[in-house]
Amino acid sequence: MPAPKGPPELKHLDHVLVSPTAIKRRVAELGNQLNKEYAKKDLMVVAIVNGALIFTADLLRVMRSPLRLDCLRASSYHTGTKAVGEPRIIDQMKLDVRGHNVLLVDDILDTGKTLAAVTGLIKAKGALSVKTCVLLDKKGRRTVEFQADYVGFDIPNEFVVGYGLDFNERYRNLPCIGVLKPKYYGG
Ligand code: IMP
Ligand code: MG
Repeated sequence: MPAPKGPPELKHLDHVLVSPTAIKRRVAELGNQLNKEYAKKDLMVVAIVNGALIFTADLLRVMRSPLRLDCLRASSYHTGTKAVGEPRIIDQMKLDVRGHNVLLVDDILDTGKTLAAVTGLIKAKGALSVKTCVLLDKKGRRTVEFQADYVGFDIPNEFVVGYGLDFNERYRNLPCIGVLKPKYYGG
């Protein structure tokens, strides 16, 4: 079968930081680590959407623990590449986390504000344990102290798109993680 062509927006990338093959390999590794950590434990996976959608979908298909999935929606990036204000939870979860092991999954750890806020919220709701798993970590951008338990890739301080990550809601369907050509960050 010929390799499927990617979306035309691939041409908008200045450079690729993480290839589809590298993502696939790393997601499998993370999934296997999680399988060890949560073997025989009941787990609630909470994806922070929209960004974590594709990462979570791929990760879940590697995971072997008995689990349930829920999503929550947090928003701090209203436009472009600039975070505006504090993260807000704009869509609450359906499942009750009280007494459960929770694994929070997000696309990227940037300033740390989103995961710090959501972790606090889930702990306050009475979760038995809360761990975090992110595909990407921009350690140089932290404004609040936060470390994820599981990290796919450390990346430099550049605004990235693809594999779930967007710029103004576009580029989520790119199969790789990349940086846009400057002219596309205009709007
Ligand atoms: P934090 O609260 O600053 O850690 O931001 C986390 C959220 O900001 C992530 O869940 C992303 O939705 C978004 N974000 C941060 N950096 C990037 C990026 O480089 N590309 C796309 N979205 C980003
Ligand atoms: Mg996000």
